[in-house]
Amino acid sequence: MGELHVLDHPLIQHKLSVIRDKNTSVKEFREIISEIASLMCYESTRDITTEEVEIETPVGVAKARKVSGKKMAVVPILRAGLGMVEGILKLVPGAKVGHIGLYRDPDTLEPVEYYCKMPKDIAEREVYILDPMLATGGSATAAISFLKNYGCLHIKLMCIIGAPEGVNRVRTDYPDVDVFLAALDDHLDDHGYIVPGLGDAGDRIFGTK
Ligand code: PRP
Ligand code: URA
Repeated sequence: MGELHVLDHPLIQHKLSVIRDKNTSVKEFREIISEIASLMCYESTRDITTEEVEIETPVGVAKARKVSGKKMAVVPILRAGLGMVEGILKLVPGAKVGHIGLYRDPDTLEPVEYYCKMPKDIAEREVYILDPMLATGGSATAAISFLKNYGCLHIKLMCIIGAPEGVNRVRTDYPDVDVFLAALDDHLDDHGYIVPGLGDAGDRIFGTK
């Protein structure tokens, strides 16, 4: 059974306050999205498996632990999820990266798929879907459904800000999926934007507005 985890580490909260600010530059916004992704990766991988190994140090033999078990894949939802990839790969350089292109139709708010490329062994990996924003949950549930069709059994969703509507949808449709957020916000506005949120994450990462 998956759970909702709100990762409210003080450093994450501090960085979130900077990206919420409408006056933050594109450069700083992009850098901090990546830093938050690193911190969320650190927090959300607490329960991964390790195994004991013996390491020869310059002065003796140490019993140490190395990460073992399932390998990781990250799947950013284009575009905005791309901003989180580098931050994860800094900590888990061996993770493979799949891409899924979805945009929200501005009228229906339904996700429209336009691109997909996955690593061949995706079904054997622990998959982290990345997207800074979980609004209606349409994009996230489409991505989860897609990965399940690929045979993935171990899926986690990592978003920076979530709305209750999106969280409820994912939790109802896919109760086995762990959801990691840095903040759970108040509600969606009439255009499907998270309130108070941070605006359009893709536009703010790539400077398209
Ligand atoms: C944004 C965001 C999510 C989606 C969330 O992407 O990055 O993918 O909206 O909304 P939902 O939960 O209601 O589906 P958008 O469609 O604006 O595309 P972009 O990343 O290319 O800007
Ligand atoms: N997508 C965004 O980028 N921001 C929102 O608030 C909602 C969806």
